[in-house]
Amino acid sequence: MSESAPATLEELNRLITEAEPGVTGGGRAVLGEGPIGADIALVGEQPGDREDIEGHPFVGPAGQVLDRVMAEAGIDRRRAYVTNAVKHFKFVQRGKRRIHQRPTAGEVKHYRWWLQREMDLVHPKLVVALGATAALALAGKALPIGANRGETHFGSHEGYITVHPSSLLRIPDAEAKQEAYRAFLADFRRIRTLVARRPAA
Ligand code: URA
Repeated sequence: MSESAPATLEELNRLITEAEPGVTGGGRAVLGEGPIGADIALVGEQPGDREDIEGHPFVGPAGQVLDRVMAEAGIDRRRAYVTNAVKHFKFVQRGKRRIHQRPTAGEVKHYRWWLQREMDLVHPKLVVALGATAALALAGKALPIGANRGETHFGSHEGYITVHPSSLLRIPDAEAKQEAYRAFLADFRRIRTLVARRPAA
């Protein structure tokens, strides 16, 4: 990417909004939301159907899981910065339904420069990757969640890797789902402790 680094989040968002989607489907660009200097930046994979319709990140079913876990961990979502690795919804149309498609590594790379500038401009104490696509985008290499869950570094940013909230929604067994939720909540409690200990970034 040859663009010079934007000086403000507004300038960055303008570049993202004006760019062609880097994935098939891809309606509007769904931009990151939250305060600059937020303690925590949460990075998801890409907007889903609901997010594309409403134009905000994590407002659909995965967002509800995120809202619940953050509330239970005592983290105020309004004070966190929430964004995605890929800014457009990648989908295939089947009848009336738009079916989510996972972005390829090449597509994630296409958006990576923007995500890095976004993290530099937001400058959070901790960057949290929600799932493998976010971890790939932030680290620049594949980091399987099982082996890498927990504290890490993404370049100059302190980082943390956990699962994507939608992975909990896909678990059919109720007990296994509850167990996965407990582990997810433990991650968010740890995240809260980590940011409370760190001086402002
Ligand atoms: N899944 C994501 O990764 N991001 C969203 O914004 C919604 C669902």
